Amino acid sequence: MSSVPSLRVVGRPEPTSPKLSLRSVSKTYRQSSGELVRALDDVTLDVAPGEFVCLVGPSGCGKSTLLDLIAGLERPDAGQVLMNGRPIAGPGPDRAVLFQEPTLFPWMSVIRNLEFALGLTGVPKADRRELAMHWLSKVHLSAFASAQPHEISPGMRQRAVLARALACQPEVLLADEPFGALDAQSREVLQRELQTVWLETRNTFVFVTHNVREAVFLADRVVLMSARPGTLVAEHRISSPRPRSFEDVLLAKVVVDVHDHLLKEVQKVVATEEGVRPGLA
Ligand SMILES: Nc1ncnc2c1ncn2[C@@H]1O[C@H](COP(=O)(O)OP(=O)(O)OP(=O)(O)O)[C@@H](O)[C@H]1O
Ligand SMILES: [Mg+2]
Repeated sequence: MSSVPSLRVVGRPEPTSPKLSLRSVSKTYRQSSGELVRALDDVTLDVAPGEFVCLVGPSGCGKSTLLDLIAGLERPDAGQVLMNGRPIAGPGPDRAVLFQEPTLFPWMSVIRNLEFALGLTGVPKADRRELAMHWLSKVHLSAFASAQPHEISPGMRQRAVLARALACQPEVLLADEPFGALDAQSREVLQRELQTVWLETRNTFVFVTHNVREAVFLADRVVLMSARPGTLVAEHRISSPRPRSFEDVLLAKVVVDVHDHLLKEVQKVVATEEGVRPGLA
């Protein structure tokens, strides 16, 4: 394939400065009943440029909230959410978000979905097709470029969404359980493909998952959140060299450690829910 056209040059911050910074961030929601729910409490987290961070924690501990704050979809009540040292004011093309449900326009073919997104980021029309094909080939979807989204499997749709996100060259990728709805085999294929493509792109990645094995396989650092109100309770650096394999015994040991720690947090949720309702501000 010829060289990829229209790659935008993105200014890089100093290597020592974090790409993302959450500084003492708290977030409380008001439910429709009027009740206040404290979702995040005093969260401080730095993510280095090119770092792959996985967030795990009990259900309802504020993982999606944290991602929404970085995406600019929510504002913190207290503290700061910074990207390249500047406050995040709202959503922007410098951050792509992958959700559990693939978000392709159903009336457009796979490649048109990518071309449309490239158009929104200002890539000239003449360059869009080649760029779209380049990224579809990275996720092994070249043969399905002309397919409609309903004609491909859920795993393939999620690969198309990943290709679309990467094609737009965001500085940061955010993912909220992107493989959560897939069967075990498709999930493992996607995890391996994501590892391969990320080794090429090295995007800064914040990836939320319930699956500890997935987190340990993918991440440079697994950050564990407490039961609600979510705060960060532990982090595990994963130093195994890449490409990693699921058969790696060292990874398996880290999985057990993180899993045990997570289980303790989940048990706290169960204990609190059986007693006084938690997280009320
Ligand atoms: N828009 C909202 N309005 C009111 N409450 C909300 C809203 N979004 C989240 N919450 C509450 O904030 C808390 C944290 O929710 P969040 O979705 O961030 O958790 P989570 O860790 O992503 O959970 P899960 O693992 O189940 O996806 C929950 O108690 C939830 O009910
Ligand atoms: Mg969530």
